[in-house]
This record gives sequence, structure tokens and C-alpha cells, in this order.
Amino acid sequence: MSTFSVVVLIGGSGSNLQAIIDWAKQTNQFTVNHVISHNPDVFGIQRAEKANIPVTVVNHREYDTRYAFELALQKVIDEAQADLVVLAGFMRILSGDFVRLYQHKMLNIHPSLLPHYKGLNTHARVLDAAESWHGTSVHYVTPELDDGPIIAQVKFAIQADDSANDLKAKVQRAEHWIYPTVIGWIAENRLKQKENNVLLDGEALGPLGRQFSFQEIEGTPT
Ligand code: GRF
Repeated sequence: MSTFSVVVLIGGSGSNLQAIIDWAKQTNQFTVNHVISHNPDVFGIQRAEKANIPVTVVNHREYDTRYAFELALQKVIDEAQADLVVLAGFMRILSGDFVRLYQHKMLNIHPSLLPHYKGLNTHARVLDAAESWHGTSVHYVTPELDDGPIIAQVKFAIQADDSANDLKAKVQRAEHWIYPTVIGWIAENRLKQKENNVLLDGEALGPLGRQFSFQEIEGTPT
């Protein structure tokens, strides 16, 4: 079993969590040693339980302040003693002070080609704006929302008849490959962050990170 461990923070259905769990089992690159959900009623919790991974619910509604919520979160994360903190559908905005605790050690995945379309409802918004391209981005977390050095993106052309749901399905397919792939790079010590530059195997990746087309990921594990 790999000694590189990951704690995954969720807040929804946990399809990315599932992909990360499955990948870890198949590749042995890393271990998911704890899952934290800010929502007590989400399917992601069942996914973790089914995989025999300890889950802690840190319900944001039970805390009067963001500070108190984050303190509770910090305690669980630190007790897990993981090498990497992975946000996967965690829907709470985290303070700068909290994020700085895990600088270079916390990742997020966002369903758009960052730096475009930060925030919510990305699929509908790219359609409304008649964009030609859509995709997903994995990035280090910094205090600004959906900001931080981009590590990798999967990009695809939007088809004329694509609905927001079609885009969501394609983005998910891409996410379930790119997120565990990037975690694997980190677990194998292939990724470095130097100020705003991300290096893979010693090579600077540029501002948009390593780029993948949708075709490149087809036929890869989901
Ligand atoms: C993903 O689309 C991710 O980009 C965003 O939240 C969604 C999480 O989905 N941050 P799931 O809970 O992993 O299915």
C-alpha cells in the first residue's frame, strides 16, 4: 500500500471521490485515509463508507462562525495526517487564513477552463456566452476563489447541440481521469510548485498547466 495519503473533502454526490478511491485501488499510487463532508446528507458519505474509509461530517450549519467551522475542519484534517488535502465538490468558501495552513498541499477541481468561469453554474454560463470550448481545471488552492496555480486542464470543443447536461457529463468524464492523475503526479513527487510556476518532471507547465484534449483521455480508466 502506498504511504502517500490523501484526505478528500466533499459536499455532494462524490463522483470525483469515487474516481479517486477507484484509482488509488488500481494504481496503488496513494491512499485515501479520510473523507470529510460539510453536508450530512450526501451520497458521497456512502461511497466512503462502502470503501471502508473513515468519514467525518463537519456540518457548517452547526457552527456560528466560519472561524469555528474551520477550526473543527482543521482538527479533523490534521488528525488524518494526510500528505494532501483534496477538495472534491466541497461547497464552502474557505478563509485566507485557513487556506494558508495548507499552502502547496491543497487541490481543487473546477468545472471550467480557468481562469474563465469561476463560481457556479459554469455549464449553463458557457452555453449562454456561446463559447466554443469547455473543460475542467485542477489547481492549487490559494485564498482567492477558484484561483491559484493551474496544474492541468482537459479541454473539449462544444458541439452545436450540446445541452448543459451534456457538458456536465463530459466534464465529469474528464474530471474522473484528470483529478486522480494529478494526485498521482504529486504522490510520485513529480510535481513542484515554485511561486506561481508549476513544474512537472522539472518542466514549467505555463499558466494553464498541462493541457489534455478529450480524445487523449478516451480509453483511460474512469
Ligand atoms: C465537480 O464538478 C467539481 O468540478 C466541482 O464540484 C463537482 C463535484 O462533483 N468542484 P462530485 O460531488 O464529485 O460528483
